[in-house]
Amino acid sequence: MRARLAVLISGRGRNLHALIAAVQDGRIDAEIATVISNCRDAEGLAFARDAGIATEILPHAEFADRRTFDTALAERLRWHAPDIVALAGFMRVLGEDFVTEFCGRMLNIHPSLLPKYAGLHTHRRALAAHDDEHGATVHFVTSELDGGAPVIQGRLPIKADDCEAQLAERVLNEIELKIYPQAVAWMARGELQLVDNAAIYKGQRLDRALGMDQLEEAFR
Ligand code: GRF
Repeated sequence: MRARLAVLISGRGRNLHALIAAVQDGRIDAEIATVISNCRDAEGLAFARDAGIATEILPHAEFADRRTFDTALAERLRWHAPDIVALAGFMRVLGEDFVTEFCGRMLNIHPSLLPKYAGLHTHRRALAAHDDEHGATVHFVTSELDGGAPVIQGRLPIKADDCEAQLAERVLNEIELKIYPQAVAWMARGELQLVDNAAIYKGQRLDRALGMDQLEEAFR
């Protein structure tokens, strides 16, 4: 049976768009059961609607507190019974109970070379630190913010004249839009699991993230 995928977004949805494209052309063997946003005006919802995917909006501001929001989100996800929950620019920190329930099924894409720069403003921080490289990482979601087992990571050189926006755009286009569909494809095929807090790829425990050289031809 095809894997069921739920995608959670908050904004623009470029990663969602890449996931939809990879499902549509068969690179990801899954069906997108739902796209859920915590923001009514998330632009990315249009990508889902255009693809005929059911969307749901759970505006976090309308919930009394974090826990009530998490409970409502978990309820909606339970209803869709996803095998994979992909956080794609989802800008809410999820509580421990939520994460425990979906642990092992939930992936995130983070725009930094984790463990460097967990949290926000990663591009700005890499520039301020005069780093010579930057990148993005797909990882399993655990209750530690951006701290779950890494799966695949891509890196690129920072250019002398890079500004935050330019760097973010390059990381997105050259790395994120490739590694996220690839990781979800592996998971949909059952080639990627989380066991005892470690990522297992094709039966091998990953001590560190795979690199872009591991991308299959179709995802390059
Ligand atoms: C991406 O850079 C993603 O890594 C980060 O937020 C951004 C979301 O972009 N978590 P989009 O909504 O996928 O366009």
